[in-house]
Amino acid sequence: MRLICMLAAAALIVGCAETNQTNREMDRFIDDLMKEMTIEEKIGQLNLPVSGEIVTGQAKSSNVAERIKAGEVGGLFNLKGVEQIKEVQRIAVEESRLGIPILFGMDVIHGYETIFPIPLGLSCSWDMEAVERSARIAAEEASSDGICWTFSPMVDISRDARWGRVSEGSGEDTYLGCEIAKAMVRGYQGEDLETQLQRNDQILACVKHFALYGAGEGGLDYNTVDMSRVRMYNEYLSPYKAAIEAGAGSVMASFNEIDGVPATGNKWLMTDLLREDWKFDGFVVTDYTGIFEMTNHGIGNLQEVTAQAINAGIDMDMVSEGFLGTLKKSIEEGKVSMKELDTACRRILEAKYRLGLFENPYKYCDEERAKAEVYNDEHRAEARRIASESFVLLKNEPFKGKKLLPLEKKGTIALIGPLADTRTNMPGTWSVAAKHDQALSFREGLEQTVGDKVDIIYAKGSNLVSDAAYEERATMFGRSLHRDNRTDKQMLDEALRAAAKADVIVAALGEASEMSGESSSRADISIPDVQQTLLKELLKTGKPVVLVLFNGRPLTIEWESENVPAILEAWFGGSEAAVALSDVLFGDVNPSGKLTMTFPKHVGQCPAYYAQKNTGRPLGDNSRWFEKFKVNYLDVDNAPVYPFGYGLSYTTFEYSDVTLSASEMTADGSITAQVTVTNTGDREGKEIVQLYIRDMVGSITRPIKELKGFEKIALAPGESKTVSFEIDRTDLEFFNYNLEKVVEPGEFKIFIGKDSQTTNEATLIVK
Ligand code: BGC
Repeated sequence: MRLICMLAAAALIVGCAETNQTNREMDRFIDDLMKEMTIEEKIGQLNLPVSGEIVTGQAKSSNVAERIKAGEVGGLFNLKGVEQIKEVQRIAVEESRLGIPILFGMDVIHGYETIFPIPLGLSCSWDMEAVERSARIAAEEASSDGICWTFSPMVDISRDARWGRVSEGSGEDTYLGCEIAKAMVRGYQGEDLETQLQRNDQILACVKHFALYGAGEGGLDYNTVDMSRVRMYNEYLSPYKAAIEAGAGSVMASFNEIDGVPATGNKWLMTDLLREDWKFDGFVVTDYTGIFEMTNHGIGNLQEVTAQAINAGIDMDMVSEGFLGTLKKSIEEGKVSMKELDTACRRILEAKYRLGLFENPYKYCDEERAKAEVYNDEHRAEARRIASESFVLLKNEPFKGKKLLPLEKKGTIALIGPLADTRTNMPGTWSVAAKHDQALSFREGLEQTVGDKVDIIYAKGSNLVSDAAYEERATMFGRSLHRDNRTDKQMLDEALRAAAKADVIVAALGEASEMSGESSSRADISIPDVQQTLLKELLKTGKPVVLVLFNGRPLTIEWESENVPAILEAWFGGSEAAVALSDVLFGDVNPSGKLTMTFPKHVGQCPAYYAQKNTGRPLGDNSRWFEKFKVNYLDVDNAPVYPFGYGLSYTTFEYSDVTLSASEMTADGSITAQVTVTNTGDREGKEIVQLYIRDMVGSITRPIKELKGFEKIALAPGESKTVSFEIDRTDLEFFNYNLEKVVEPGEFKIFIGKDSQTTNEATLIVK
């Protein structure tokens, strides 16, 4: 401790404008510090044990305080509360020999205590200001409560709705994924690369899970990934790179293998690509027990896989304690060089320096700030606004001549379904810091907002799923839906009695929040059995039914899309979801979200995504299904229920033809593509205008459409706006067979429209 103070006083120049100068100061400071460190203390910096309530892997760290005193801990994660964190930091700086402060990390994934929609929902807002704002608020709250490092953003592209972790990402699209990755990093660390992390409300981001974690075979979590380099480069890697270019100071390795080598031990990935090509200069942490898991992958024993990890470029070991237990031996045996250890140790110390922890280890421990900022009214109001932007109106048909939504604030509503009156399921998966009981249930939200005008009769209607053991697995971590012991018939009868008294039925159905997220893959992605029966019975009453869906992934809802007059996709909207839902259902807010993942008709269509390749036997027009010897199934056509980019509004929008400022351009030139969008309905609304491009002929096969731009615009009734997209080489280039980024001259189609399937088009020739 004493040593650190002296070094810090001698070496730190606070707020230095000149980055090089600051870097030199940092290097000198760390050089001096590392001269004092023993090999054990250096290894200790690479050790990240877990502390707290959350255990996601196969091990739990113990004896943490003693280890901190012994200098064996570089960081700690999922410890909550500023007082506790301050005390643990005190142990590190006052009771360890060198007094090196520790990093406090946490899974602050979609908010801290004020919870925003699950990332998949948030992405459906297509609103980068909202995304950044949600990360900013999360950083303000977490930083005031002692946290300086978040394991976010999760930027894994995924096209397989069976994978439960699609809920934690931004959906299927690379371009949108990059924009969201950048917005998240800006929100956590700050906008300006030169000044990021200087303030005490800015926290270190960790882009994860590097890499390709979303492409596990069969949508099964942790499963094998096998992918061509061409696909990696063109479709999967860019969001990680975008986050790094936005400044993300750390990267988390993924659990899966790449080219037969687990990411955690993959030198091509962690050094050649990440360090040499992308110039990443932060540190890399494993995922939970990632090093240990390489023994299960069959790569070697703990000492061998640990050596492989550090030699590949891993700097910090989350929970495995492979570094702590075996690294010294490997260095003595010449299997790891001192240089590798020094490099990893330096990177951890650099992160601590950049965060300002050497200058003030308690920079993030301000009890007064925590009291004022965590879950305050302003943050909650923002969460409400942002949640309402994440909902997607999937269907809204007239019922007796009038569109069913928005609902009128009068009469009687029968609110029915197992998701209608649960607080703990509202925040959604991965809301580690949230007080789950704090969020209002959907029922409570409606009662609070419209309860004085509308009679709300509630009935559960059914359990989550008929199989009690499945329900238990699906409601872990305190998300119980309090399984009802009555028979299905008794529950249904109660629901039908409620329905009989109502003017309209609102059915709150779908998944419990822990049916998505980590280790929550599903082989059947439909609305569970008993809930489907309930829905069918409710429809038989002849009363208008609004289906409000709670789910963390696309569901196969073809039947529902054909038979239910109104469907609102609510995802898991966070701590203010209940009131935000009321805002949208009763028309105080016009829904504007659009899907960022395709909703397949059948689970057998997974992976389902719009940016497919044409293949040699394209079906072309889906309405022609079935055609022998074409790329189509015998038993279900190729069209999704709802395509990527789809979402309705309470108003309607019309698109003009697409015009180009020139029909030809050179590869280094640029043109403008324009469309005029008119609000043809009778209320104000927001529309997400989407630009897609297709490269008609390439040296490798190219997708039939790729998102290359979007703009969210607000239009008053009758108002028109012209939306312009500048198209230049960045929109046309791709990685060719040799992984060179090229633009190949020829014909390109430019599409602009309201979703990936409803577009107007023009032709561009690139010379
Ligand atoms: C997850 C990570 C998470 C980590 C720490 C792992 O199981 O894959 O996303 O950041 O646990 O909680």
